[in-house]
Amino acid sequence: MGSVQTVAVFGAYGHTGRFVVAELVERGFVPVPAGRDADKLKALAHETGLEARVASVDDALSLDRALAGTAAVINCAGPFASTTAPVIEAALRAGIPYLDVAAELEANLDTFAHFADLARDARAVIVPAMAFFGGLGDLLVTAAMGDWTGADEAHIAYGLSSWHPTAGTRLSGSVSRERRGEGRLRYAGGEWEHRTDAPPTLDWPFPEPMGPRSVIGEFTMADVVTVPSHLAVPDVTTYMTVEAVRDIADPGTPAPVAADEHGRSDQAFVIDAVVRSGTAERRAVARGRDIYAVTAPLVVEALDRVLTGRTEAVGVASAGEMFDAPDFLRALAPHITLDPRP
Ligand SMILES: NC(=O)c1ccc[n+]([C@@H]2O[C@H](COP(=O)([O-])OP(=O)(O)OC[C@H]3O[C@@H](n4cnc5c(N)ncnc54)[C@H](OP(=O)(O)O)[C@@H]3O)[C@@H](O)[C@H]2O)c1
Repeated sequence: MGSVQTVAVFGAYGHTGRFVVAELVERGFVPVPAGRDADKLKALAHETGLEARVASVDDALSLDRALAGTAAVINCAGPFASTTAPVIEAALRAGIPYLDVAAELEANLDTFAHFADLARDARAVIVPAMAFFGGLGDLLVTAAMGDWTGADEAHIAYGLSSWHPTAGTRLSGSVSRERRGEGRLRYAGGEWEHRTDAPPTLDWPFPEPMGPRSVIGEFTMADVVTVPSHLAVPDVTTYMTVEAVRDIADPGTPAPVAADEHGRSDQAFVIDAVVRSGTAERRAVARGRDIYAVTAPLVVEALDRVLTGRTEAVGVASAGEMFDAPDFLRALAPHITLDPRP
């Protein structure tokens, strides 16, 4: 990086936004914290010594002011149903790249549907779901594919030791459920299917030391948007360990608590990504700690690649399409351990 670059972080004082601000500083960027609450922003500015800018999605001018002079914007403000479109529009007006950490399927689908043409015509870079859910699974599936140009199925199984959700996760989940109506979505035969039956429960053979665990199948996460957005895979399914599903379903489960010097909780994760073509199977496994904290190195690595021209697409593209997936994954050490090392 030649000169110091400023990067707007919308939703900077949220749980994930704070990890992103810290990671930007760690990597030599100058974050510009932005958000709608002047008091919370002021407290963050005081704590970090950064210049903060108040901005609201209801006021386009305030967003323009927040993004003025910045090299890119990272949107960490969810529910994304309300924030994605106004912040993308502001990024397009400013002529800067946009990345978000949205895990809401509907918001991610909207980004592709509403902005693909506009962004391609403007030669803009928009990376939705550049986070633990949506981004990392897509990178693993893309890396596991290797020289395959298509596969019959992709499966992404999440083994979380626990899931203590933030307020933003809970709110985003309820907005998604409201938007989708009764039931759930799955992606099969190259199409979205709305289902009202209960999702299946099955055993997933996570690699050791976790071993086989009970998971909820068709627990549809953002990867089911990102993977088929660029790979010819008609069946994409995500799975979640039952303990984690129980945690987020319980309104009494507490928010995550810092357990190390980086502010990470003690939550451990393993992601087992498997692609199948006929009888052949390929796999990529990632392990790490704290799904919120690890989102920061993911989105900041993506930002760095966008700002240094290490991209493979323009317009709206998910992590696996926008970046060289094996190279990106290698760059995530020591935050993520990979097996096999791509
Ligand atoms: N894909 C993934 O793996 C991944 C990983 C981490 C987080 N996320 C998503 O990121 C979002 C934030 O999560 P979090 O853990 O940081 O939650 P959080 O601690 O509750 O923070 C939410 C942030 O969003 C802001 N916000 C919400 N609605 C807003 C709006 N309409 N306008 C402006 N700001 C708004 C909040 O500001 P106020 O305090 O002013 O409301 C706050 O700064 C959630 O949607 C979560 O699902 C996804």
